[in-house]
Amino acid sequence: MRIALPFLALAAFALPALAAGEAQMIAEGKRLAQINCTKCHNIEPAGASPLAESPPFREIAKNYDREELIDGFMDGLAVRHPLMPNWDVTQPQAEALTAFVMSLGTGQKPEESQAARGFDLLRANCARCHAIDASSMSPNGKAPPFRNVVRNYDPDALQEALAEGIVTGHNNMPEFAFEPDDVTAIIAYLDTLKSP
Ligand code: HEC
Ligand code: HEC
Repeated sequence: MRIALPFLALAAFALPALAAGEAQMIAEGKRLAQINCTKCHNIEPAGASPLAESPPFREIAKNYDREELIDGFMDGLAVRHPLMPNWDVTQPQAEALTAFVMSLGTGQKPEESQAARGFDLLRANCARCHAIDASSMSPNGKAPPFRNVVRNYDPDALQEALAEGIVTGHNNMPEFAFEPDDVTAIIAYLDTLKSP
């Protein structure tokens, strides 16, 4: 184990320095965004963008990974959306902006992406017959829209049904049983249908 020692020592020094560097980058990115982007984009953890077509930065954080964003800023996102000002960013500025955008992804992200995953699972497995959104009709007239199911079902019973499969009562329905992670994601999505 003697060989590992120098590495350990190095890591102990490098880690706090990295964390401090990251915090500085985020602060610099926020400053740049405040100057250049807030005319159109919301850059806070909540709220709407001043210009409705501009996605809030926290949404951007969900759709891109770090490398894509840095490259995007360097190549000039102006190409893809004409409304955006033509702005030459330097590599450090692109990295700072990206660090800031990514920092907005934490916090809200887990719950929202759970629901998004739940939606995808239902779309893949159930939307053939059931309406899975807030307003449409079920493609199969006999299959109740999930927004009704979620209001009528006891949440525990629904959770159990998803995990163990719903076989009784409807022979038209395919058999299915979801993993616990998937059940959590589906329930997270179904919860969003509950509000009237
Ligand atoms: C004049 C308004 C305006 C300003 C200022 C602006 N944007 Fe945008 N931005 C938009 C609009 C509108 C869109 C959506 C365009 C679309 O989806 O085609 C957008 C989209 C984006 C996207 C997402 C691109 C995609 O493909 O999903 C990123 C990233 C982005 N802007 C970053 C920035 C950054 C960083 C700044 C500041 C340096 C900035 N924007 C300043 C209007 C603006
Ligand atoms: C092939 C069509 C079909 C597919 C696909 C389908 N269902 Fe159904 N489902 C039905 C029908 C039809 C009913 C109503 C049957 C009845 O009440 O006898 C139903 C009923 C239900 C009920 C019970 C509603 C109640 O009030 O008792 C639940 C819960 C349900 N489905 C969940 C799901 C889930 C979750 C999926 C996807 C994994 C799914 N279904 C996929 C056709 C389908």
